[in-house]
Amino acid sequence: MTDHVAPAVQELLDGVHRHPALDNDFYALWMGQPLGFEDLRTFARNYLGRISQTPAVIALTILGVQDTEVRARVSGTLYTELGCADAEHAHLKLLEHYLTDLLSRVGGRSFTLGELQRAPLLACTQAFSAAQRVLYTSEHPCGILGAHLAQEWLAYPMLAKLYEGARLYMPLYPSIESFHEHAEYFHAHIGATEKAHRREALLAASRLCRTPKDWAELAGSIERVLHITADYWAGMFRALRASAARRSQASTDQLPGPHKATDAISEPQM
Ligand SMILES: [Fe+2]
Repeated sequence: MTDHVAPAVQELLDGVHRHPALDNDFYALWMGQPLGFEDLRTFARNYLGRISQTPAVIALTILGVQDTEVRARVSGTLYTELGCADAEHAHLKLLEHYLTDLLSRVGGRSFTLGELQRAPLLACTQAFSAAQRVLYTSEHPCGILGAHLAQEWLAYPMLAKLYEGARLYMPLYPSIESFHEHAEYFHAHIGATEKAHRREALLAASRLCRTPKDWAELAGSIERVLHITADYWAGMFRALRASAARRSQASTDQLPGPHKATDAISEPQM
């Protein structure tokens, strides 16, 4: 099995860092300042809502291709995603623990997973999940593998950026060690595991894509994932900006005399 990919596909993958899927206002905000409780809850709810689909779409990849070697390779990714058969180490569990713990620290009170899950999802998150399911149930296996490859290609830089933002909350932890203990979700991704997933996805694509039509299906899915991912983060940023505007309006409404509105995105609580 080689990792040859069509030049057009390689070009797409090489350019992901410049795409709004990775270079966008949300990441600039997230890495630039800690969010206040309300904005952090919006991020947490919608990131969790998106990531909770991950095991299912990896399973759809396995179902959607007939090739046993590809299935075996993708199964390895699913196995890791599910904590190597240990639910407590499943990536989704690690994320749930991280987010509820962080919200508890920022909010100054215990914040439960049920409370987080009761918050409604933004339209951008619902649209992302719906589009993702369409891609992962594509009739053409190379379309499915394109979605899988793009997801894996975006995962490492996405997690690296989210981790950089997470570090801004370090003063809320009693020690550096405590922060890292609670940041296991990031450590599970930024390292050999995510790099291995990316390579497996590339190998799977290069094994099944043989004809120009195959590569076109693959490239089309990659472009689609980039597009829906950019839309997802843009929707998240708009929601945070709108909530900041509402807070700003509410506070100016309470001022006794002439005043000027601020355009701050959110008020850091540290
Ligand atoms: Fe993961």
